[in-house]
Amino acid sequence: MTTPHQPGAPVASSGPAPKPIAGAATTKATPSAKGLAGARAAGKTPLLEFIGVGQSFPEPDGGMTEVLHDITFSSDRPETICVLGPSGCGKSTVLRMVSGMYDRYVPMPSKGECRVQGKKVTGPHDKVLTVFQKPTLKAWLSVRGNVALPFKAGLWGAKVSPEERDQRVDNILKAVGLHEAAQLKPRQLSGGMQQRVSLAARLVLRPPILCMDEPFSALDPQTREEMQELCLRVWAQSPCLALFVTHDVSEAVRIADRILVLSTRPATLLMDVTVPAPKPRTAEWLRSSECRDLEQLIIRRIREAATRPGGVINVDV
Ligand SMILES: Nc1ncnc2c1ncn2[C@@H]1O[C@H](COP(=O)(O)OP(=O)(O)OP(=O)(O)O)[C@@H](O)[C@H]1O
Ligand SMILES: [Mg+2]
Repeated sequence: MTTPHQPGAPVASSGPAPKPIAGAATTKATPSAKGLAGARAAGKTPLLEFIGVGQSFPEPDGGMTEVLHDITFSSDRPETICVLGPSGCGKSTVLRMVSGMYDRYVPMPSKGECRVQGKKVTGPHDKVLTVFQKPTLKAWLSVRGNVALPFKAGLWGAKVSPEERDQRVDNILKAVGLHEAAQLKPRQLSGGMQQRVSLAARLVLRPPILCMDEPFSALDPQTREEMQELCLRVWAQSPCLALFVTHDVSEAVRIADRILVLSTRPATLLMDVTVPAPKPRTAEWLRSSECRDLEQLIIRRIREAATRPGGVINVDV
């Protein structure tokens, strides 16, 4: 059954009601402060919280452009959340807030706050790591050297003994299928292999939250599918909260537990929907009308929002 993750207050409707997904209850989904209150009332500190987050950036002419508007969602468990939305709507900005990558050009949220494990994010911290679209590898280091490198970085280095580090590197190289390529240099690897090294170099630190910013968008379709399967396997073995930005709705319905859809700028949270099938998703489900309806619903929402900037709409699923 498709159910919104955090049912909240009804919001203004626009456009015709979408066709319900087969067998699914009709519920309104909108960003909700209720979910946050609920998690806290249950005595559980959410892993990640966005509470009324707004972001505006200064323009060269002295004005401000509002990019994110009142974004509220939370997660209290290791799960995979895919973030979809039109280009330029603020998806990477959301990830940057989670990792605390602020500087003089990327200021803290203009409104609200982002919290990780209950603590307001005010700068880089060791609970979140990010995989980018382009692999970030050191050309002069081997695969093994690249995967072990993060242990030397300031935020993590001292916390793990050399024995444990070696063990973890071995394990993660096996998990991503690179143990036989451990001595190769990045230039000797395909694009997919390089991205696997990049992923391994984050997972080896076992971050509670992993941000992935269109990590597979530069790969060919087959390699991309292999990477999706690899992620599903690795996350099943070592669960973390993965925030995964993608433009590919099929990728989202394949790997996500939950999908967030942002509107055009200023981006509001249009949808927060739980994918109604257990993982790993079978080929049968991925071909089913339930899956196709969900994909169509998301695509329609993004298109509708594109013609109605900032519009907030009902989500009936
Ligand atoms: N430091 C900054 N200063 C000014 N504007 C910024 C800054 N960072 C992002 N922006 C603007 O905020 C908007 C959202 O950017 P962001 O990179 O988050 O979008 P996105 O959804 O990730 O886009 P894409 O899908 O193309 O990757 C863009 O219009 C961008 O120009
Ligand atoms: Mg981006």
